[in-house]
Amino acid sequence: DRKIKIAPSILSADFANFGAEIRAIEAEGADWVHVDVMDGHFVPNLTFGPMAVKAFRPHVKTVMDVHLMIAPVDPYIDAYADAGADVLTAHVEAGPHIHRTLQAIRGAGMKAGAALNPGTPAEAVAHLLDLTDLICVMTVNPGFGGQKFIDMTAKIARLRQMIGDRPVHIEIDGGVDPKTAPLVARAGADVLVAGSAVFRGGSVDKPEVYGQNIREI
Ligand code: DX5
Ligand code: ZN
Repeated sequence: DRKIKIAPSILSADFANFGAEIRAIEAEGADWVHVDVMDGHFVPNLTFGPMAVKAFRPHVKTVMDVHLMIAPVDPYIDAYADAGADVLTAHVEAGPHIHRTLQAIRGAGMKAGAALNPGTPAEAVAHLLDLTDLICVMTVNPGFGGQKFIDMTAKIARLRQMIGDRPVHIEIDGGVDPKTAPLVARAGADVLVAGSAVFRGGSVDKPEVYGQNIREI
C-alpha cells in the first residue's frame, strides 16, 4: 500500500548550516524537505523569508515543502514561487479568503496546501478539496519545534473520509516521533513532518544519526 513519506523540518536544523543540513538529510533518506516560514505575527516566532528559501533551493534535490505560518499570505505567493517552492501551504486561519489564496498558489505554478491548527475542524476544508494537493494537520500549536504531540487521529480519519479518492495528501506536522508516527500512519497520513525527532543527536558532522532517526520513525 502507500509508502509514508518523511519530511524533516529544517526548523530543528543548524541555522548556521542550512545548505549542508539539507544535503545531509536528503543523503540520509528524507523524501521531502519541510521549510517552516514564520512571521512573528501569525505565530509567536520568526524564522526566514523568501530570500532564504530561494537560497535553500539549489540544495534541495527532492521536494521543497514550504509551510507558511504567516498572515497575510497573498502578497508573498509570487515571491515563494520565485524562490522555487514545490508545495506552498497556507493556514486556513490566516485570513478570510483561503479559497482565493489556494487558487492563487496553483495559479503561480505550485502545489497548494491548506493547514489546520489543532483547534480548527476538518470541515474547514470541506469546500477546498478540489483546490488543494495537500492538507497539513497540525499536531502542535504552530511556532516551535520539540513540542508535545496533540492527538488528531479522529480529524485525520475524518479528512481521509472527506477526501475520498481525490489525489490529496494528508501531512502531519508536529511532535511526530517513533511513538506517535504509527498512530497517525494508521489513521491515514501520507507525509510525516518531523523536526526534533530527525535532527536530535546529529549534526552536519554526524549525518548518519539523521538517517537512523528517519528510519526509526
Ligand atoms: C511548528 C512547525 C513544525 C515543527 C515540527 O510550527 O510547523 O513543522 O517544525 O517540529 P517537531 O517535529 O520538533 O515538532
Ligand atoms: Zn511545519
